[in-house]
Amino acid sequence: MARVIHIALLGLVSLVSAVGRETESLPSILSRAPYVQCATATSIWVLWRTTRPIQPVVRYGLSPQQLSSRVERSAIVVRLAPTTNRADLELTNRWAGLTLGPRLHSAPAGTVQYEAHLTGLRPATTYYYAVCDGDQPLTAPDPSYHFRTHPLPGTLVPIRFGAFGDSGTGRERQRRVWEALLEFTARDRHPMDFFLHLGDMAYNRGRDVEFSTRFFGPYEATLRHTVFWPTFANHEGITSKGAAGLGPYFDAYRCPTNGEAGGAPSGHEGFYSFDYGPAHFISLNSHDEDRRPTSRMAQWLKRDLAQTRAQWLIAFFHQAPYSKGSHDSDREKEMIQMRTYIVPILEAAGVDLVLAGHSHIYERSMLVDGAYATPTIAENAVLDDGDGDPRGDGPYRKPAGRLPNAGTVYVVAGHGGATMRRKATCPLMRKTILEHGSLLVDIQGDTLTGYMIDHYGDVRDTFSIVKRDGVTPMRLAYPWVPPAWIAAKAPATMDELGTSPPDSYLELIPRNATWQYLAGTHPRSDAWTRLGFDGRDWQVGEAPFGYGPPDVQFGTVLADMPGRYTTVYLRREFDVEAADAVTELGLLIAYADGFIAYLNGHEVLRRGVGQDRGRSARDITPRRAQDRTALRYYPLRDAERYLRTGRNVLAIEGHVANLNSPACLLDPALISED
Ligand SMILES: [Fe+2]
Ligand SMILES: [Fe+2]
Repeated sequence: MARVIHIALLGLVSLVSAVGRETESLPSILSRAPYVQCATATSIWVLWRTTRPIQPVVRYGLSPQQLSSRVERSAIVVRLAPTTNRADLELTNRWAGLTLGPRLHSAPAGTVQYEAHLTGLRPATTYYYAVCDGDQPLTAPDPSYHFRTHPLPGTLVPIRFGAFGDSGTGRERQRRVWEALLEFTARDRHPMDFFLHLGDMAYNRGRDVEFSTRFFGPYEATLRHTVFWPTFANHEGITSKGAAGLGPYFDAYRCPTNGEAGGAPSGHEGFYSFDYGPAHFISLNSHDEDRRPTSRMAQWLKRDLAQTRAQWLIAFFHQAPYSKGSHDSDREKEMIQMRTYIVPILEAAGVDLVLAGHSHIYERSMLVDGAYATPTIAENAVLDDGDGDPRGDGPYRKPAGRLPNAGTVYVVAGHGGATMRRKATCPLMRKTILEHGSLLVDIQGDTLTGYMIDHYGDVRDTFSIVKRDGVTPMRLAYPWVPPAWIAAKAPATMDELGTSPPDSYLELIPRNATWQYLAGTHPRSDAWTRLGFDGRDWQVGEAPFGYGPPDVQFGTVLADMPGRYTTVYLRREFDVEAADAVTELGLLIAYADGFIAYLNGHEVLRRGVGQDRGRSARDITPRRAQDRTALRYYPLRDAERYLRTGRNVLAIEGHVANLNSPACLLDPALISED
């Protein structure tokens, strides 16, 4: 780091992060720390994973000192990784009396997942618990291992819940959003009763390892005592299948299917509902379920809405019906269909609040009804065009009870951590904020209040809905029109800025490492990019490679390069302990002018080289002097497909724009998300 390479990346200096701190004190046998799921008034599930079989015991009780109850062995489900040999494990006789569940869809070899069902609990009661291997506790004797059962449906209790989607990047911003929300609820000493995750919780493909590092890791200390109710989304949908209920998403969650948490039995974990006191919550699969009115999901939704007696109705799903953020609801099929087919059902049943993500932005509507057309227009589809802020224009008012079509507020809270974008302004939106954060919702009696809390902990939007007698909904022919949005000058491209590196990572190939290199000539074939290549006639040198900028301390100066050749080839082998445990591989690199990187023979990254490769490489863009030495981060595309357990090889060809280029620089490090 003593070398003068500009640290141009936000957050790069805080490489050692707080994420994962909680896990350090736990015995390493826990590969997924205990977390609670599917709470009802009288029951809850506790799930966890270990790296080898144990004798699972969950002890619980009304005080941390008195965990006098034990979960029946028959109420603990054991699930094995696909590659774990069941016959070997059964010889240990540890599982007598337990229930053997379906195998996990994907998990590292040897993984055992335990799912314990705690039943016969008292409503609205706080219990403490410990997870043990026989008599040996696996969880610290810490009161944070607790949960609170739901109040009986219909009980008039205050409710507080958080929500966002699109968080699972493993980046610093994800962590800051979460910390800001927790600090906010700690400041007013009012923790969340539960959390609604609006989907895209494990980028990039919802793999098991991405769930571990980008969902369970960052939220671990909360997941042990607070239920996250999920909804199925497109990134999870790459490896999980919602309609079939299979994949890492369904391994991770226990969702109600038989109406056990309230509502009508859905028969599927992909869409479900639950009650909490005076409110009823509905999670829909907007991603890969049939959304048409005749579909099983729409039919179930109608049954569910017809039978609930709750005072407040809240629906959540991933693909927002109204958005002009990173996704346009006038263009994407899923969003159009949710609006055309599902929103009319919700509004006809008197749903008060609809939460969604997908679009990486915060957008919050006026009080809306009947905006089903495409493109979305606000004329005659708004019942109150004020700002809904109790300290501004005043709260939105609805009649008491659940009258049909009395107005709904729509929130896009896809601002949980992923890169933000805005395309335009949705005409229904009262507030559009391009900033990371979360949504916090309080329900107290006849009033629901939502707060947008940004990643600094500041409240950026407040809206309320008050339900009282004596209100008659009226349609506005010409509601308030949000100001037009003018796109800022085109932002610097990903090519130029790269992205931020993972919040914590390991160096597989450090800066200043020693590489095999070839300069002044070209390899005869592309065998040099693969393992097993005989590189005896290559030279060996330390990075950085190149010539030019006087402020760079080159490890290997290519003094003969100017005027003679434009390309240099590097290769280095490295070892990986367990390829299936790697979430993301990326290059931290300063370069001039362009390069192509290969992992085990496959091209995984290209910057500044327009076409072709090697001696045929063309369209190489000269970089500006100040960009050449700036360290950038780029994830390697599809690296998880090509990475192998054991030995691998990273190969990089570096190019300058022409023989007279003032500088050449290749200063790479290969990192993996930790
Ligand atoms: Fe997303
Ligand atoms: Fe999405």
